[in-house]
Amino acid sequence: MNQRTFHIRTYGCQMNESDSERIAGTLIDRGYSMVSTPDDAELVVLNTCSIRDGAENKVYSDLGRLRMLEAERGQPMKIAVAGCVAQQEGARILARDRGVNLVFGSRAISQLGDMLPRLEAGERLVEVDIHTRPDAPDSHVRPDPWRAFVTVMEGCDNHCAFCVVPATRGPEVSRAPEGIVDEVEQLAAAGCVEVTLLGQNVTSYGRGLSCGTDFAGLLERIHAVPGIRRIRYTTSHPKDFSERLMDTLARLPKVARHLHLPLQSGSNRVLERMGRGYTVAEYMRRIERIRALIPDIAVTTDMIVGFPGETGADFEQTLDAVRDIGYLNLYGFKYSRRPNTAALALDGHLDDEVRSARLEKLLTLQKAITLARHQSLVGSLREVLVEGVSRRNAERLSGRLEENLLVHFSGDPDWQGTFRTVRITSATSSALLGEDLGEEDPLETAGLADGKTFELTRGAVR
Ligand code: SAH
Ligand code: SF4
Ligand code: F3S
Repeated sequence: MNQRTFHIRTYGCQMNESDSERIAGTLIDRGYSMVSTPDDAELVVLNTCSIRDGAENKVYSDLGRLRMLEAERGQPMKIAVAGCVAQQEGARILARDRGVNLVFGSRAISQLGDMLPRLEAGERLVEVDIHTRPDAPDSHVRPDPWRAFVTVMEGCDNHCAFCVVPATRGPEVSRAPEGIVDEVEQLAAAGCVEVTLLGQNVTSYGRGLSCGTDFAGLLERIHAVPGIRRIRYTTSHPKDFSERLMDTLARLPKVARHLHLPLQSGSNRVLERMGRGYTVAEYMRRIERIRALIPDIAVTTDMIVGFPGETGADFEQTLDAVRDIGYLNLYGFKYSRRPNTAALALDGHLDDEVRSARLEKLLTLQKAITLARHQSLVGSLREVLVEGVSRRNAERLSGRLEENLLVHFSGDPDWQGTFRTVRITSATSSALLGEDLGEEDPLETAGLADGKTFELTRGAVR
């Protein structure tokens, strides 16, 4: 008997990437094998994102293309729609596209295994209950043994006026710390050296847990796991980026010196209309404080331009904030209208021309700042975690600095998943070039391998 095959296509953020790994794990457990294109797949899963306008239409046009592929190949194809558009649209997707067999939200992944026999028997199913708890990950296939996403919480209880996420991912729920630490221990035992802790709002981790563990406490516990060498986390929210957390970040050497702290706007008036819960001055104070504690921490951000009612003067304040803070990089977004969000009812919605021009101006400014920051690294010796052969140039390897910056350099593909010392030789605004100087400092490795906290900084062999 032929083995069943599936293909999965992932859109959106790292939470969706992690969810796709769980979906794939569940299917593989049930005897499916993964294929890299939809061409021969019996089951195609679209794991969708709803952050921008047009997201729904994009899903319907993808579905149309899959139907055409099915007609061309003459073999039946089952289609599942997962992720944030699935959660948002639910049964409407089944009604609008007769070819879709299953719609399930991110909280329903743990039920996928039980739904499969019904799907295979020809039923059309929807599962978008948003209130289930994030259980310990059932089956999870990760593409690389040396790094892993670990979801620490699901959902979001904030209601930023522009954002669809609380509606698509449901209320905030934290996983119990024991389950997370167990998972990290198992990963480390299997050779994982870098974990990225994921949640829409990791800085409020632990709210609602009876054990009293907060994000700082969770970091300490993960930091103590032998074998784990780098800890990343995303996303932090400025309003609960606390003094206690900052002190903890400064004390734990395995935590990457990189903070992604979305500001969204440099105007207090706009921040208030967005319902973000902090002022620009409060945000600045936190940046100053963390920089006092960890002087070389790299800070990145998300910024929205053209929010309803944003004036030219508000936008200038955003540019000022970007110049003052000196971000290593930022993600810039044009405001987009999303269903079920408070911003829809605000006055002063702006034309696309205005939003596009502002976005271009913001990105041009940041590009120059990023280039200068990258150039300032030229000549330094840095620790790089090797990701593998560069996607653009098969002669080179790519790896990342703690700041999450990409470095390309020549070396042996077998170094994937190991740390190297690299001299940075040149920089563009998108990446760095370097030359390999060998394995990292063996003393440092020994300290990290024991999981001890020590004073030596990570990576910097400056
Ligand atoms: N939980 C994270 C962000 C999740 S969404 C946080 O609070 O920071 C990622 C980014 O998408 C947001 O930071 C915001 O900059 C952008 N975004 C979300 N909704 C948007 C919308 N309607 N229009 C434009 N950008 C949006
Ligand atoms: Fe969206 Fe705000 Fe929640 Fe982030 S904190 S997911 S921007 S509602
Ligand atoms: Fe998109 Fe959902 Fe992530 S809307 S950005 S996939 S939480």
